[in-house]
Amino acid sequence: MTITLIAAMSEANQIGYKNQLLCKLSSDLQYFKRQTEGKLCVFGRKTIESIGGSLPNRTNIILTRDRNYKAVGCHTYTSTETILHQYRQYNKEETELMICGGETLYSQFLPHADKLYITRIHAIFPKADTYFPKWNSDEFRLVDMKFNKADEKNEFDYTFETWERC
Ligand SMILES: NC(=O)c1ccc[n+]([C@@H]2O[C@H](COP(=O)([O-])OP(=O)(O)OC[C@H]3O[C@@H](n4cnc5c(N)ncnc54)[C@H](OP(=O)(O)O)[C@@H]3O)[C@@H](O)[C@H]2O)c1
Repeated sequence: MTITLIAAMSEANQIGYKNQLLCKLSSDLQYFKRQTEGKLCVFGRKTIESIGGSLPNRTNIILTRDRNYKAVGCHTYTSTETILHQYRQYNKEETELMICGGETLYSQFLPHADKLYITRIHAIFPKADTYFPKWNSDEFRLVDMKFNKADEKNEFDYTFETWERC
């Protein structure tokens, strides 16, 4: 099983403000859809609530400490270890566990990550209150990057980056 973290972040690793994204780039939302459809997607409880519930065409997995938490179309887990144990049982090359945020999820799954899909938004957001953890450049190498200019549907320049564990 491959474990992939997928996130859109600023030049300063900022990812959110008041439980919302910092900005919505149309191309990034499409990229997220392409990269996560048909896969196992893990969300923190705050993130799944901020997006308004489960997403179609993928397996929605929520992490919460509330054993009674229920959300339509979602599988609920109360620890990262249980998620890893449960989904490692699939143990097939083609199974990709996508860690979709927020900050607490990225921090806890980064040590287990094989791959990072980062959308680098070329901007700084002074009010941001959540961050992607810093990763060690000795542990991951940049294997692909594609720069895109801002346009009418994307407010800022941005780069799609793919990092793989060395
Ligand atoms: N830019 C991006 O790509 C991106 C992607 C996703 C999210 N975000 C942003 O990130 C922000 C949210 O991040 P966040 O860190 O505040 O919240 P979060 O990670 O989405 O959710 C935190 C919640 O997850 C549960 N949790 C975390 N670790 C756990 C563990 N080990 N065991 C059991 N439950 C656990 C807890 O839920 P309970 O409180 O229910 O116990 C905790 O309160 C928002 O602003 C969102 O928009 C940005």
